[in-house]
Amino acid sequence: MTAEETLAKLAEEVSVCTQCALHTSRKKSVPGDGPANAEIMFIGEGPGFHENEQGHPFVGAAGKFLDQLLAQAGVTRADVFIANVVKCRPPGNRDPLPEELAACDTYLEAQIQAIDPSIIVTLGRFSMGKFISDVKISAVHGQMRKVGERYVIPMFHPAAALHQPQLKPAILGDFAKLPDQLNEARAALGKPVRTVQNTNQVQDDKPKQLSMF
Ligand code: URA
Ligand code: SF4
Repeated sequence: MTAEETLAKLAEEVSVCTQCALHTSRKKSVPGDGPANAEIMFIGEGPGFHENEQGHPFVGAAGKFLDQLLAQAGVTRADVFIANVVKCRPPGNRDPLPEELAACDTYLEAQIQAIDPSIIVTLGRFSMGKFISDVKISAVHGQMRKVGERYVIPMFHPAAALHQPQLKPAILGDFAKLPDQLNEARAALGKPVRTVQNTNQVQDDKPKQLSMF
């Protein structure tokens, strides 16, 4: 199976998954979006209200801010894979429970294996906790470290930075460092630059407008 086929199969499994209690209240599961050969994978926390409605990650206010942050790093959504530690919305946006994180980790692990990104950027503490334990995000944000076969960079959650404006310079600065960190990771892993296959996984429902100038 190609990586693309694996991701499609996982998305199908997630859409009918009943492995944890979150399935009872979900409207749409949110498996994640992006090209199967993305060099950078972002992992957030879980779907919020809008994500649950639409079935795509980071489409609400935090997503708008994430788009700005990606632009700061010179990338667009079409270049990166964006997923969450839980694929179904925790009711009222509560924190995911340990048993929910454990149940859903099977899907996240399979996505990571299929995509094999050079860098994983964790957004927020739940995602960071999967890779790095016993650290404070305020002390280690933006610092790249090797975890197994790849590099992990913990960052603040964009929603946290929206609610706490004093975090904004830090998250902007961390995203600005990403291009250099990607080059560093590629060199250390001996991986060539990947040209992303522009799959149709990143939905663009807007009609294309012809620019006159
Ligand atoms: N916050 C997240 O952690 N993930 C989303 O997909 C949306 C908001
Ligand atoms: Fe399954 Fe994950 Fe949804 Fe729980 S959150 S029902 S484990 S897909």
